Amino acid sequence: MTHSLFERPPVGAVGDAIAHESAELHVTGHALYTDDLGVRLQNLLHAWPLQAPHAHARILSMNTAPALAVPGVVRVLTKADVPGVNDSGVKHDEPLFPDEVMFYGHAVCWVLAESADAARRGADAIEVEYEPLPAILTVQDAIAAGRFQGSQPVLRRGDVALGFEEARHIFEGEFEFGGQEHFYLETNAALAHIDESGQLFIQSSTQHPTETQEIVAHVLGLTSSQVTVQCLRMGGGFGGKEMQPHGFAAIAALGATLTGRPVRMRLNRTQDLTMTGKRHPFHSKWKVGFDEGGRLVALQATLSSDGGWSLDLSEPVLARALCHIDNAYFIPHVEVQGRICKTNKTSQTAFRGFGGPQGMLVIEDILGRCAPLLGLEAHELRRRNFYASGEATPYGQPVRHAERLQTVWQTLLDSSDFVARQSEIQAFNAAHPHTKRGLAITPVKFGISFNFTAYNQAGALVHVYKDGSVLINHGGTEMGQGLHTKMIQVAATALGVPVKCVRLAPTRTDKVPNTSATAASSGADLNGGAIKNACDQIKERLAAVAAGTLGVHPNDVRFENGKVYPLGHPDQDMDFAKLVHDAYHLRTQLWAAGFYRTPGLHWDREAVQGEPFKYFSYGAAVCEVEVDGFTGAYRQLRADLLHDVGDSLSPLIDIGQVEGGFVQGAGWMTLEELHWDKFGRLATQSASTYKLPSFSEMPEVFNVALLEQATESGVVYGSKAVGEPPLMLAISVREALRQAAAAFGPGGRAQELRLPATPEAVYWALDTARQASGALVTADD
Ligand code: MTE
Ligand code: MOS
Repeated sequence: MTHSLFERPPVGAVGDAIAHESAELHVTGHALYTDDLGVRLQNLLHAWPLQAPHAHARILSMNTAPALAVPGVVRVLTKADVPGVNDSGVKHDEPLFPDEVMFYGHAVCWVLAESADAARRGADAIEVEYEPLPAILTVQDAIAAGRFQGSQPVLRRGDVALGFEEARHIFEGEFEFGGQEHFYLETNAALAHIDESGQLFIQSSTQHPTETQEIVAHVLGLTSSQVTVQCLRMGGGFGGKEMQPHGFAAIAALGATLTGRPVRMRLNRTQDLTMTGKRHPFHSKWKVGFDEGGRLVALQATLSSDGGWSLDLSEPVLARALCHIDNAYFIPHVEVQGRICKTNKTSQTAFRGFGGPQGMLVIEDILGRCAPLLGLEAHELRRRNFYASGEATPYGQPVRHAERLQTVWQTLLDSSDFVARQSEIQAFNAAHPHTKRGLAITPVKFGISFNFTAYNQAGALVHVYKDGSVLINHGGTEMGQGLHTKMIQVAATALGVPVKCVRLAPTRTDKVPNTSATAASSGADLNGGAIKNACDQIKERLAAVAAGTLGVHPNDVRFENGKVYPLGHPDQDMDFAKLVHDAYHLRTQLWAAGFYRTPGLHWDREAVQGEPFKYFSYGAAVCEVEVDGFTGAYRQLRADLLHDVGDSLSPLIDIGQVEGGFVQGAGWMTLEELHWDKFGRLATQSASTYKLPSFSEMPEVFNVALLEQATESGVVYGSKAVGEPPLMLAISVREALRQAAAAFGPGGRAQELRLPATPEAVYWALDTARQASGALVTADD
């Protein structure tokens, strides 16, 4: 029997528009999250951090005795308690209990008590003497001080000096933009207990259970086999739970080990905001050359990211930024330097797109600014520079299916009625001196796979029980993105049974070991491949049994909808359950471990060259906004998105991912602003000061579609990853705002726009436009 990875059987659950497997539990409040599980345990202890009130300081002394005098306090965890390595980072640069405070809010010790409130009061009672040290709080200051961390990769192709010689138009600029808070609904949580044999069991809100397991093991001086990590589900992760949860899990595990009691920790919102990393802010300095036709000839840039106090994922995030600075455009000569600033702030980390959005923003900002200077409309400048088939990225990867981008683009221009609306907007703007509309279209090309080749593997465990019911387990975690729903559909399709016959058990490291983070949008590609592999093995054994019963060759046995029949004779069917029962009595193995590794990847991290991605995900978005000339306030009138998810495994889930990604991206680019005060204290510590998008910021007309007939031949059932790429569709919102702001002034000028493009930022942008036209109008006119 041969098993094609991407071909679909004529009948099967993949592609059905079904609801998220936990949708009912989510909306009725029955879905359990890590912290809900604690109340079921006896003798539970609660952990609370003591957070340092300095951005940078040496700890001179710590007196924990007063905490122990607080009623209910059981123990204070400090560095002296660590039996293994006092470090919670994969780069060994994150002491779990620090001697040197590296950011405002850094936890210096943890208190365990009978209640969270007692633990908090215990933490308040601890006396710490600090020696404040000078702190570096901005990228600019870090650059000036030369304070960098990690490697400084350079992406290079061709010869930029030659490119600039050939170029007809050369422009230079700078662009700096802020980070983004994940603001997952569920804050970081862990729950640990230890059994009679010394085995640690930790439930953690983690996107990377295996790495949580490894960090806990090395903090405690244990082997991985002595630690089990489980994640039932997360209330959102968005990259923020890829590496940040490990230290918290280690605290709970250490507490459980020392006290023999279960220990729970759950950050409150302010703790989560002030202690955990965010999207990396970036600063870029660039020089670009175009030929007379507006084709990009050369790009030279320096990207400096703000990594915060430790490295965690800053290096791979920067690598992904370098790999996406081309976005959808062919640039013959490229030289982009990357470096990571070390600042006294939270350790910035993965966030949906993982540096890709930051890289793409740089080139989209350049094109948006330069188009008027080249005498071209921005959408025309973009189209002219698209990759053609046969062309390769600056890191040497051929752009497979480049023509899909053209298809997406043209289909969307037509379906959104782009050209007609452009003229309507021109007429509207001519008639309204104090209100302007803007319309923009932007593309997305996003590479799918982990750059780090080894991560592109996954495992699964599929059990078929004697009654024909199916239980699946895989290495991916569920954070709301619908991975489990897709995996149930994949298993049902591969075994030819209805979706209701398949149950899914929680992700845990003692079922499927050595897993990769559920990240890089690759959860369904990797785990789906592994589940299908396990199901194919079981089906092959079952087919041999069925062939005997039905009197046909095993290759001619069909599995469909819980029935098994000889090819061409659906009337001669037998129940899947009956076949399973027979197979058991013939002593057939009814379960299997599945494995998948993405073929054909290689990546040279030092040279920034290779073919790190299995394929590219494509999309485009059209956005129309209306801006008020007196205040800069704006509305999104309409957004049209078209995204390529291959042949969707689960269309409702995928549409939800595209919508959610777009809104999250628009939030970052227009509203969300992290602010640190001069002491290095995060000033935006709650939802009252950190402005998140809500219903009122949604586009008034919102059309979201998936590209049709888009089979991806290298991926499970012809699908493509969806999790991160749609976030970058929101670049169209910012570009539409740029158009609208520019419309307040004369054409032919570069319109700058701050990011986030808050109403205030839009006001100052349109104000410069008005100044340029000489027709000065102020807000009090
Ligand atoms: N969708 C929801 N609802 N919640 C999340 O936390 N995380 C995003 C994306 N979509 C996220 C989400 C990120 S950062 C990634 S990498 C992918 O989902 C991870 O899941 P996948 O690999 O299964 O797509
Ligand atoms: Mo997503 S940023 O890769 O977890």
